[in-house]
Amino acid sequence: MALRKIRTMGDSILTKVCKPVKENTPKIQILIDDMFDTMYEAYGVGLAAPQVGILKRLVVIDTEDNPIVLINPEILEVSGEQTGDEGCLSVPGKVGVVTRPNYVKVKALDRDFNEIIVEGEELLARAICHECEHLDGHLYVERVEGELRDSSDEEA
Ligand code: NI
Repeated sequence: MALRKIRTMGDSILTKVCKPVKENTPKIQILIDDMFDTMYEAYGVGLAAPQVGILKRLVVIDTEDNPIVLINPEILEVSGEQTGDEGCLSVPGKVGVVTRPNYVKVKALDRDFNEIIVEGEELLARAICHECEHLDGHLYVERVEGELRDSSDEEA
């Protein structure tokens, strides 16, 4: 269990395309545990490996006390639409409006390297789309409608 440093916008590692995870190793298991620790510590609901400097196709998500590991995720199906605020641990203190599918079906490997299908709606669908985009070097700020806002202004 360890916290990793979260890379922030401007760090070129966040713009790179990540490589598939080829085998289950103790190192991958430690990375998964560290990513959950790092995400919970920062009050996030999702974290992608490149955000902690690892260029591998691996994300962790927990939107409703249900930790999900997606290794080599592949989005199979999307439908509907939702428009709402989104943030990212790599863009601290900011939020912006992004339109996403309201339903997503994704295929991936879980942490034991079993193939799984995960279906998500609303926040989970948003998180899956957001995290998968990190694996291709994209940040949500590229999709923001209007201005990126300071999240602290609204909490105050
Ligand atoms: Ni993010």
